[in-house]
Amino acid sequence: VPAFNGFNKAPDDLDEAREQARHCKACPLWEPATQTVFGKGPADAPVIFVGEQPGDQEDLAGEPFVGPAGKVFDAALAEAGIDRSQAYVTNAVKHFKFEPRGKRRIHAKPNMGEVKVCRWWLEQERELIRPKLIVALGATAAASVLGRTVTIRDTRSRLIDLPDGATKLLVTVHPAYILRLPDPEAQARERAAFAEDMGRVKAYV
Ligand code: URA
Repeated sequence: VPAFNGFNKAPDDLDEAREQARHCKACPLWEPATQTVFGKGPADAPVIFVGEQPGDQEDLAGEPFVGPAGKVFDAALAEAGIDRSQAYVTNAVKHFKFEPRGKRRIHAKPNMGEVKVCRWWLEQERELIRPKLIVALGATAAASVLGRTVTIRDTRSRLIDLPDGATKLLVTVHPAYILRLPDPEAQARERAAFAEDMGRVKAYV
């Protein structure tokens, strides 16, 4: 992958990538955010999970999926018998985008331009880890991995061959989508379907 994002050299390992990303100003999201939330997990992880962007708690902690969506994610992994520490967990966009509302910071969806610019970091992570499987949590992650817009309905739960010929992609819902469902029954159904998708991931970890 050619150098970009203001760095004259592509990183040799994840630590170098993380250190470079700490200083990234390739899009305006760096400024109001607390810090870059880079991916977390072993460099030889067989699976990369990709979310959308860090939320409020992730922005403060500096780690992906530690807030409410992370709890839903963890529960589904536990149900499928997957040890999260063996996987690499990251996001399509690595800064928290939000709108201030009083003392609260309300999540704002990253636009396609921000996703495109930040894709460089995801490509570094993919290149350095070379996983067997990438799991896209939601449509933003799927769009970043595939480089084109797709719907969850058309892509969910199938193993899709990526153009590199070595990596597969599994698309599922974003855990925050499950949390937003107002009907408890629908939420229970979606939690079960999400855990079922994690069951499909289990074969790769
Ligand atoms: N939602 C995401 O997409 N990523 C996180 O890290 C947290 C919430």
